[in-house]
Amino acid sequence: MSQVHVSNHPLLRHKVTLMRDFKTEPKKFRELIREVAILLAYEATADLALNEINVVTPLSNAKGSDLKEVIGLVPVLRAGLGMVEGFWEMMPSAEVWHIGLYRDHKTLEPIQYYNRLPVAPSVDVCLILDPMLATGGSASATTQILKDWGAKRIKYVGIIAAPEGIKRLQNDHPDVDIYLAAIDDHLNEQAYIVPGLGDAGDRQFGTG
Ligand code: PRP
Ligand code: URA
Repeated sequence: MSQVHVSNHPLLRHKVTLMRDFKTEPKKFRELIREVAILLAYEATADLALNEINVVTPLSNAKGSDLKEVIGLVPVLRAGLGMVEGFWEMMPSAEVWHIGLYRDHKTLEPIQYYNRLPVAPSVDVCLILDPMLATGGSASATTQILKDWGAKRIKYVGIIAAPEGIKRLQNDHPDVDIYLAAIDDHLNEQAYIVPGLGDAGDRQFGTG
């Protein structure tokens, strides 16, 4: 079974609280999602492999490290877009591969509308970026797309999850570890996370 990591870091808790507040405007919301992404990037990459390298300091030689694996950031459109910048600041050589999905309002099933992955996988580890894990349908579908592409190692990085979404992703993909800032109470009748933060896409882009 996969592991679920929920960070208790005070900065994350403070910033997620501001994201939840309905009075937070899109400009501030975008700033917060970028900052939260930086903190989650730190948590989600703690086990990345390293190469040992030598470096010359102004005084001497030193042993050092550089990242061994090619990282692929996979933001799920639209809401995952806001997390890219924060991750990219921490790992500027990461490749970014977008997946476009939206939830059908009636069936709640994810509908794919964008995927330009190349024929063969070009990365060693994929980090799926999507702030909201609600029913888990979108996360599960994105993971399946990446597995069909040939991705070997996949992690999911979200901000707020419902217990239902975690259960679905763990059942469908027990090999995918999950990194979060918070686990909320439940889903409402429209499958929105409660208390949650509303529609993460709308709140970033000023729509809805
Ligand atoms: C949101 C969110 C996830 C999905 C989660 O996207 O960003 O992708 O819902 O719900 P699920 O776990 O029930 O699948 P949405 O479909 O609202 O599209 P948007 O980001 O374009 O607004
Ligand atoms: N998508 C969102 O943006 N918010 C939710 O609460 C659920 C799905």
